[in-house]
Amino acid sequence: MNKRLAIFVSGNGTNMENLIRRIQAGQIFGAEPVLVISDNPQAGAISKAERLRVPVRIVERKNFLSKPEFENAIIRHLEASQIDLIALAGFMKILSPDFVKRYRGRIINIHPAYLPDFRGAHAIRDAFEAKVKETGVTVHFVDEGVDTGPIILQRKVPIDPQDTLESLEAKIHAVEYELYPEALRLVISGKAKFPLK
Ligand code: GAR
Repeated sequence: MNKRLAIFVSGNGTNMENLIRRIQAGQIFGAEPVLVISDNPQAGAISKAERLRVPVRIVERKNFLSKPEFENAIIRHLEASQIDLIALAGFMKILSPDFVKRYRGRIINIHPAYLPDFRGAHAIRDAFEAKVKETGVTVHFVDEGVDTGPIILQRKVPIDPQDTLESLEAKIHAVEYELYPEALRLVISGKAKFPLK
């Protein structure tokens, strides 16, 4: 049985597009992209998902009085689509501990740094400005912390003296497009599992 995958986005959606294209091309066995959730009605990801014929639901935080109500609206969409697995792909809202508990071990995230270094929303810029010699990309299970969950795969990316922020972003994205599909394969095949405490 294919795992029914929801992808959460807030922005350009290039990682989302890469995952969907690779699944549709038969390169990630056992997954079916059935839903995209965007919290941003302006996200470039929306038209990309529509072109790939994956249904999109837009759930904006500002339309709800509280975070639990916002997340309940998302959960209703996930339940209606019988989602097994959630892949965060540039989703810039922090999911509450209650949400994470509900989908424990079934939410994965891509982060553009070599965790635990450079957690947070501006990881590429933070690494560039810190003038470190290398940064990286991490795919991890989501736990109740921010960018703290068990790591599935990570890969280093060197920062060369001639790199600009833009060239570093391009190098990070190129690694992301290889690493996220690899990590998703490990999760779907059961080779990577959320560790039981
Ligand atoms: C990606 O670089 C992803 O790693 C990052 O946002 C970008 C989204 O690009 N995620 C985070 O920073 C999460 N904290 P995309 O919309 O083109 O896939």
